[in-house]
Amino acid sequence: MQDIQLIINRIHDAMVPRLGEGKVADYIPELAKIDPKQFGIAVTTVEGETFVAGDALVPFSIQSISKVFMLTLALGKAGETVWNRVGREPSGSAFNSIVQLERESGIPRNPFVNAGAIVVSDIVMAGHQPREAIGELLRFVQYVADDDSIIIDNAVAKSENATGYRNYALANFMRSFGNLHHPVEHVLGVYFHQCALAMTCSQLSRAGLFLANQGRNPLSGHTVVSARRAKRINALMLTCGHYDGSGDFAYHVGLPGKSGVGGGILAIAPGKASIAVWSPGLNKVGNSALGSAALEMLANETGWSVFGA
Ligand code: DON
Repeated sequence: MQDIQLIINRIHDAMVPRLGEGKVADYIPELAKIDPKQFGIAVTTVEGETFVAGDALVPFSIQSISKVFMLTLALGKAGETVWNRVGREPSGSAFNSIVQLERESGIPRNPFVNAGAIVVSDIVMAGHQPREAIGELLRFVQYVADDDSIIIDNAVAKSENATGYRNYALANFMRSFGNLHHPVEHVLGVYFHQCALAMTCSQLSRAGLFLANQGRNPLSGHTVVSARRAKRINALMLTCGHYDGSGDFAYHVGLPGKSGVGGGILAIAPGKASIAVWSPGLNKVGNSALGSAALEMLANETGWSVFGA
């Protein structure tokens, strides 16, 4: 049996001298206020034990990590028809890129680039008022994390709406191709609120546990998705979860992962554990600099990479 606590303490010690590396996302004004000198890590094993180190109990904006939960809901609702409106290929471009959309007739490359996630939110909104779709996502995240105290930070959602020119451009563009079925302001209202979910590393690692355990949450005993669906979501996280940094993340860490511009990363070690790391400073492609380094250390020390070693 590996001593997870010892390993993450060691990782935390290695990250402390590097605190403040990278650049905090400042295109969302509310995120620009965050103290960059923070680092947290939480590991929840499939046996149901959670280990934490550093700032693992400080809530942060999960941003694009929410795309994993919204995709899970959309697949539950629309099944494989989701893939008529969004692709499953890595984009090789930035998370907010617009270039491929025109060439590919308004069908985003994958559900994790912003354009793809906006379509996924539109799918979840079918038959709902925007407020209900947001409520559905929040309740789902509370359910998978088994924690009703998780909230959405409305100040972050509002701040992003005020400066979300790029997302408005993407959404209007897709609407012109008929790939959004609801008014752009409504869809983005849902999307900005999902991105504004505030969670701690500890809560996030528990929320991802069903993906590490063939779709079943071992803490509650609830089957969230089928084993096949969990495998497929993990595959998308591995290939597309870090945008144009996905290849590099697979090379260094070798785990399905999803990053967010709040500095969080959710990584899944299938059959072993769900891991959440957080440090606000981002690398050049918008993924947490220390978070990526910490996960590389963890994968090396535990041998949990899906590719072995
Ligand atoms: O739409 C945006 O730009 C943000 N709400 C989310 C982007 C994000 O987290 C990209 N991740 N690294």
